[in-house]
Amino acid sequence: MKEKIEQLLNEVRAFNADSKEALENFRVNYLGKKGSIPALFAEFKTVAPELRKEMGMRLNELKNTVQEKVEEQLQKFESQHSSESAFDLTMPAGEMHGARHPLSIVARDINNIFENMGFTIAEGPEIEDDYHVFTALNFALDHPARDMQDTFFIQKEPNVNKPTDVLLRTHTSSVQVRVMEKNQPPIRIIAPGRVFRNEAISARAHCIFHQIEGLYIDENVSFADLKQTLYHFVQEFFGKDTKVRFRPSYFPFTETSAEMDISCNICGGEGCNICKHTGWVEILGCGMCDPNILIASGIDPEKYSGFAFGMGVERIAMLKYQINDLRLFFENDLRFLEQFETA
Ligand code: PHE
Repeated sequence: MKEKIEQLLNEVRAFNADSKEALENFRVNYLGKKGSIPALFAEFKTVAPELRKEMGMRLNELKNTVQEKVEEQLQKFESQHSSESAFDLTMPAGEMHGARHPLSIVARDINNIFENMGFTIAEGPEIEDDYHVFTALNFALDHPARDMQDTFFIQKEPNVNKPTDVLLRTHTSSVQVRVMEKNQPPIRIIAPGRVFRNEAISARAHCIFHQIEGLYIDENVSFADLKQTLYHFVQEFFGKDTKVRFRPSYFPFTETSAEMDISCNICGGEGCNICKHTGWVEILGCGMCDPNILIASGIDPEKYSGFAFGMGVERIAMLKYQINDLRLFFENDLRFLEQFETA
């Protein structure tokens, strides 16, 4: 009996099932009613008393070894199974979800139009200092025009404005300042990016929005260049039939300043709710660079002149897609987002 147990132990230890069925056969052969282990237990009753202790231990060892083997092999099959299903490269791909965000589409299209005219993209920090957002742009420290843009301050001297105050940029004109500081004309850049203003959130205003501002400085740049550049942009973006008009305006950093309207792209100028029955909608601010801002950044205003413009991406997107609530851009509701261009 001792040799028999020894032989079975070796067999069991060497066993390696190649299928679940083989494993089940193995289990039945040893542990099943008619298997070898119950047979050995039956034989055990006939073992001489002085050998019983040792035989009993051996027999139990065999039984435990079989049980452990069955457990171990079972686990092998289960883990194989789960790794197979996780990495089944033959499975058909699931349906892809996703669309470009409307603001990304519009910003991309606007950038492309200006890039085709030779503008390059410039970037700058969202956390700025007063100097680059206001002071270098001809906003005097006590200039009331600072109130035009409700600023989020991060670090501010109480009651006074200092060029060193730290704040979230309220427009990307700060990027233009940074470009002028480091480069001499010709300069031809657009500055797309997020801007922040302390406004109550509503259908028409948000505390975060996106701008694309542009700057062109060279010798002999005139208001005619400004008009033609923006007219070309509008025709490319809104279509050849779109008309433009310029209204006098005020910005501290431009002189002459203007706001540009386009003929309402919804009603074609007939008059509708969007254009408040005027046939025109405002889309951007612009003007000739004030000589003071050129001087502040080390550019000679006797030699060079330039123009700048700035538009809100949300506003353009609202007109393009006839969206009447600004908040939709930031809520990320899939029912809204899925309506736009995919891939
Ligand atoms: N920076 C202005 C704004 O944010 C827009 C603008 C840019 C106006 C350049 C004129 C020239 O409102």
